[in-house]
Amino acid sequence: MRILLTGSKGQLARCFRDRLPESWELIATDSASLDISDPDAVKQMVHNFQPDAIVNAAAFTAVDKAETESDAAFAVNAAAVRNLAAAAREVHARFVHVSTDYVFDGSAKVPYRESDCPNPQSIYGKSKLAGELLALDANPESIIVRTAWLFSEYGNNFVKTMMRLAGERDSLSVVADQYGCPTYAGDLADAVIALLQRASARGIFHYGGNKSVSWFEFTQAIFQTAAAQIDGFKAPELKAIASSEYPMPTPRPAYSVLDCRRIEAESGVKASDWRKALSEILGKLD
Ligand SMILES: NC(=O)c1ccc[n+]([C@@H]2O[C@H](COP(=O)([O-])OP(=O)(O)OC[C@H]3O[C@@H](n4cnc5c(N)ncnc54)[C@H](OP(=O)(O)O)[C@@H]3O)[C@@H](O)[C@H]2O)c1
Repeated sequence: MRILLTGSKGQLARCFRDRLPESWELIATDSASLDISDPDAVKQMVHNFQPDAIVNAAAFTAVDKAETESDAAFAVNAAAVRNLAAAAREVHARFVHVSTDYVFDGSAKVPYRESDCPNPQSIYGKSKLAGELLALDANPESIIVRTAWLFSEYGNNFVKTMMRLAGERDSLSVVADQYGCPTYAGDLADAVIALLQRASARGIFHYGGNKSVSWFEFTQAIFQTAAAQIDGFKAPELKAIASSEYPMPTPRPAYSVLDCRRIEAESGVKASDWRKALSEILGKLD
């Protein structure tokens, strides 16, 4: 299978590259070689390369920055996604796009299903929802994988931030009233590969971690794993705080748990075993 990958320097894309089946051919494009918000460049790249599938791992992911740069967020997360989906359709390629729990408002009490009504509360969430809708409109065969709380050995993520802060601080306050499922980007990459291997996969799938926690509990798990693995690791003292004590420019969803039963039922992909992944990657953060 010939794959065109966008955003190839991001954490999901790097995990995807690590896991690509040997027989698959990859054209990995980053923001310098393919700016997905340039419609002509997208069209030309897709028509020149004639991929069997396009995997869009590029996104405007700076949630707070999106509030003041909404045009840029919508250009990358919405208009560009439509152009990629349409170009895929023109060359009869499959299209996989990655979306987010931020399409929901976080007021649920049970895990979100694919059929639940989105209600994004931020520009980032609104731009990602627009991208989903435009992709499905331009190319009804599109595969959209919503995920949440991504971490990996690569790039910027919560695990790496906490490990850095552990080296700098004696104590840390972490929000304990927002819940979600940490998701290892390598497991998500495997899920994308599994969906590509299943010819009938189409529409929206949720993919996230197999156990929900608060940010505070996630931090405890990170530090417990680090203490068990790293000689001399000293965890900072942890204090559980409320979101109201840690105001952010953009409010975060209080509840971001995704119900992953559809992807397991249709593709055999199990929810991300994030605690196992954590113990495997802590020693190799880049
Ligand atoms: N991280 C999370 O916790 C999380 C949670 C839920 C969903 N998601 C979704 O999961 C996907 C992957 O996220 P990630 O964490 O891997 O993101 P990431 O590490 O921030 O990578 C995003 C990549 O997109 C590239 N990009 C941005 N604008 C571009 C453009 N105009 N043209 C081409 N490339 C562009 C960036 O390149 P430059 O750095 O060069 O701009 C970057 O390499 C995204 O769709 C995101 O919305 C992420």
